[in-house]
Amino acid sequence: MTAPHVLIAYASRNRGTAEIADWIGLTLTAEGVPADVRAAADIQDLCGYTAVVLGSGLYAGRWLRDATRFARGHRVALRAVPVWLFSSGPLDSSAAERDIPPVNGVVKVADELDAVEHATFGGRLVPGAHGLVARMILSRGRGGDFRDRAQVRAWARRIAATAALERPQLI
Ligand SMILES: Cc1cc2nc3c(=O)[nH]c(=O)nc-3n(C[C@H](O)[C@H](O)[C@H](O)COP(=O)(O)O)c2cc1C
Repeated sequence: MTAPHVLIAYASRNRGTAEIADWIGLTLTAEGVPADVRAAADIQDLCGYTAVVLGSGLYAGRWLRDATRFARGHRVALRAVPVWLFSSGPLDSSAAERDIPPVNGVVKVADELDAVEHATFGGRLVPGAHGLVARMILSRGRGGDFRDRAQVRAWARRIAATAALERPQLI
């Protein structure tokens, strides 16, 4: 039986999604499932991982390029293990109140990778964020932190329960 080892790969422009990835990693570890949290752009190979969580911040209705590039570049290896996807975006409480379906591009990724599941979490936009549009949104008072740590933790616990079961190791 292969020992579980989960990779949490993320794409994040302003660190909000990176922190969600960290929360997922901490939960998995606390549940006894070893996990590595890494920026998608820095990952060369998936050797040794028994499951992968991939997430990105949403920008103009899309994932960031690093996330889609990761999904495409590692398609064959990703199809060999359970893959869980998440998006972080809505700058309101909607994601904590109901299931928000993935955007079209992410539906495509989920299909291509035969993903187990996708979750949308609230986003965060706070002063210091990169970009003119980000600053415009903030100047209109529409920023804030809408990530629900308990929601993320509950989702990660379900991954931990599944990942603890036997899975084939990547080659
Ligand atoms: C320019 C811009 C465009 C955005 N577009 C979307 C969007 O299309 N859908 C959405 O749900 N959130 C959108 N957001 C909110 C971000 O997804 C949210 O701030 C998220 O937490 C960013 O993740 P990051 O901090 O990891 O980069 C947008 C934010 C900015 C600044």
